[in-house]
Amino acid sequence: MKNIIDLYDVEKSKIEKILNTAEDIQSNPKKYEKVLEGKILASLFFEPSTRTNFSFSTAMMRLGGNVIGFSDANSSSTAKGESLKDTIKTVSAYADVIVMRNSYEGSAKAGSLYTDKTLINAGDGGHLHPTQTLTDLYTIKKYHGKLNDFTIGLCGDLKHGRTIQSLIKSLSKYENIKFVLIAPKELELNDFMIDFFKKNQISYTKAVNLEENIADLDILYMTRVQKERFDDINIYERVKNVYVLDNKKLVNAKENLCILHPLPRVDEIAEEIDSDPRALYFQQVECGMYARMALFYHLFKEKSGKSSEKYTEGTEICENPRCITQVEKNLPKLGLKACGYCEREFKK
Ligand code: NCD
Repeated sequence: MKNIIDLYDVEKSKIEKILNTAEDIQSNPKKYEKVLEGKILASLFFEPSTRTNFSFSTAMMRLGGNVIGFSDANSSSTAKGESLKDTIKTVSAYADVIVMRNSYEGSAKAGSLYTDKTLINAGDGGHLHPTQTLTDLYTIKKYHGKLNDFTIGLCGDLKHGRTIQSLIKSLSKYENIKFVLIAPKELELNDFMIDFFKKNQISYTKAVNLEENIADLDILYMTRVQKERFDDINIYERVKNVYVLDNKKLVNAKENLCILHPLPRVDEIAEEIDSDPRALYFQQVECGMYARMALFYHLFKEKSGKSSEKYTEGTEICENPRCITQVEKNLPKLGLKACGYCEREFKK
């Protein structure tokens, strides 16, 4: 486990170990307060963040380490035209581990090629968000008692949400999970994710109406409509308030429903829900810090040298306009059928 680019690449047994450690850290924080003494985290946030940034930083500090970084790309040399490669190479001289959020899909993978240090993906555009998924799994396990045998409703912007793609991929490792994909046409899950369900024989249904489906759910994962990822702002305006979870919609919901949201919320969950014991999104925030502490702990404890990439001759050229290959020069070719960075299949 050198880098964390996609939680799907991490074996299930390893995920379980990290979740168990998160639990132990949460119950015995004192035991861990010096385990990363002297280590330095570089926290590179090219896109806005509150939770992910602060939870990584506090996770490192609570384990005894230190943090450097920026939370605004304009205060870094990227604003002067520096390439991702040069930024990562530079930061690698200072830090032991790098956490990066960037708006380009596949940017975490690209960055990881330029460092021997561990690189953790804190969100690469609309692609993936592995540590949010670790947070989600930890929260589900803690409050639902298990990571299998449940029906989960994913509601809102399934098209642009990296938390959604990450969560689906990782939950596919667990048995008997039924997905209910609740979204209007404009926000439906991408076809390549539907192919993922089919290829892995995972049960899913599509729905538009939240209220009509709520009674079946054990977990409801609400998401924000991702304004920043729309090509056409008029479509955003049309769908931005398509779902608002309120007390009325919860009337038929199960008593032990878990309501999750990666946050930030805009209007998709009414504030009246916050006091409902089924609303777990603020507990989820806290779980995120412990999950990241556990991840750091295991990464440093079991650091396994370099990752072995299979390079093909040439430079990666991907047609996805949001892919890192569109802006970063000379990225080595990794994929034959699909882009090795954003995973988008090449057109034949
Ligand atoms: C999410 C993200 O950045 O993808 N937030 C987070 O990391 N907790 C969700 C979002 O921005 O809507």
